[in-house]
Amino acid sequence: MTNPNLLILPGDGIGPEVMAEVRRIIDWFGAKRGLAFDVSEDLVGGAAYDAHGTPLTDATMEKAQEADAVLLGAVGGPKYDVLDFSVKPERGLLRLRKEMDLFANLRPAQCFDALADFSSLKRDVVAGLDIMIVRELTSGIYFGEPRGIIHEGNERVGINTQRYTESEIERVARSAFELARRRGNKVCSMEKANVMESGVLWREVVTKIGETEYPDVELSHMYADAGAMQLCRWPKQFDVIVTDNLFGDLLSDAAAMLTGSLGMLPSASLGAPMANGRPKALYEPVHGSAPDIAGQGKANPIACILSFAMALRYSFDQGAEADRLEAAVEKVLADGVRTADLMQSDGGSPVSTSGMGDAVLAALDGSL
Ligand code: NAD
Ligand code: IPM
Ligand code: MN
Repeated sequence: MTNPNLLILPGDGIGPEVMAEVRRIIDWFGAKRGLAFDVSEDLVGGAAYDAHGTPLTDATMEKAQEADAVLLGAVGGPKYDVLDFSVKPERGLLRLRKEMDLFANLRPAQCFDALADFSSLKRDVVAGLDIMIVRELTSGIYFGEPRGIIHEGNERVGINTQRYTESEIERVARSAFELARRRGNKVCSMEKANVMESGVLWREVVTKIGETEYPDVELSHMYADAGAMQLCRWPKQFDVIVTDNLFGDLLSDAAAMLTGSLGMLPSASLGAPMANGRPKALYEPVHGSAPDIAGQGKANPIACILSFAMALRYSFDQGAEADRLEAAVEKVLADGVRTADLMQSDGGSPVSTSGMGDAVLAALDGSL
């Protein structure tokens, strides 16, 4: 039997730094748990632009389509801000999501008990938090036409279009309902049906899917602005949140702070099942390339490590090994190991990115 193949795209800024720790963890699972992967590495984002003049080559796109799973670090950085929009690093990531048709972006926000006092919200509000944001990822205002900057009279107009078809809403709604059945059995759908026609359609379609296919799952609706407020007020009222591409982007960064740091949040972007029954998939931290700390060994690799745990669970049917990795991370945090983003400015000495990797590997060894 051949090993599953994993395409690794470290990208830019702290992407390669956090991914180096994940590579060590992948090797650990190969050596200690008999879970061997054929790993290949390629360029994306600014790194690909520097080498090839494009943020994603066709050859890399093809490899991603053929991979059993893709693991991505982060893309972007100030160096590339001057580039034409069509070749910006972020376009490479958007092309991967669109062409692989990764419509369901799962962004869990879990507050590890050891970090409950570190969140900017009160312990009571976040302790034990375990919610899942399902963000639609291949449509909406990120991709709608018309778009661009046009000239109108003697000024310019920037245009983007929010657009959702019924089938696009149906499929992401099903993903959310399926997940809810395996969790707390509740879905809250967020849009702005009070001001946007796309929101009216969103609410109608999610309601129809809920009533006809998932009557056992409790469904509620919120306007996304009120949803943002409720996420900060009492986030534990939620189980699964399903929302569009742009609202999901904003709400998941906000949810990151419930867990203590953006450096903690993993994600899985899933598409339709491939011939082998597994979904097309790309796993990446929610955070970006963090130019302010890149190259300093300060980045927290946990979001990227937990993204690999999601790969074990959703692409490789290794739920028990994913639990093992998540438990190792939880133990390390309980032991007080902290990268700089998880400390108050006066709170002791942080470990480096590789120091956190060492600690997780030691905890994995201890799990055997
Ligand atoms: P960012 O997520 O890179 O950083 C925001 C803040 O969080 C920074 O202060 C950063 O130091 C901190 N941070 C983020 N990840 C961290 C980690 N693992 N450990 C410790 N601290 C961490 O967002 P930004 O600054 O708005 O964007 C920077 C670049 O990244 C931009 O070019 C943006 O387009 C890109 N970006 C890429 C992705 C992605 O590749 N998926 C996601 C978001 C932003
Ligand atoms: C994210 C990022 C991306 C997005 C960018 C880098 C394209 O912010 O993954 O959350 O807006 O989707
Ligand atoms: Mn984002």
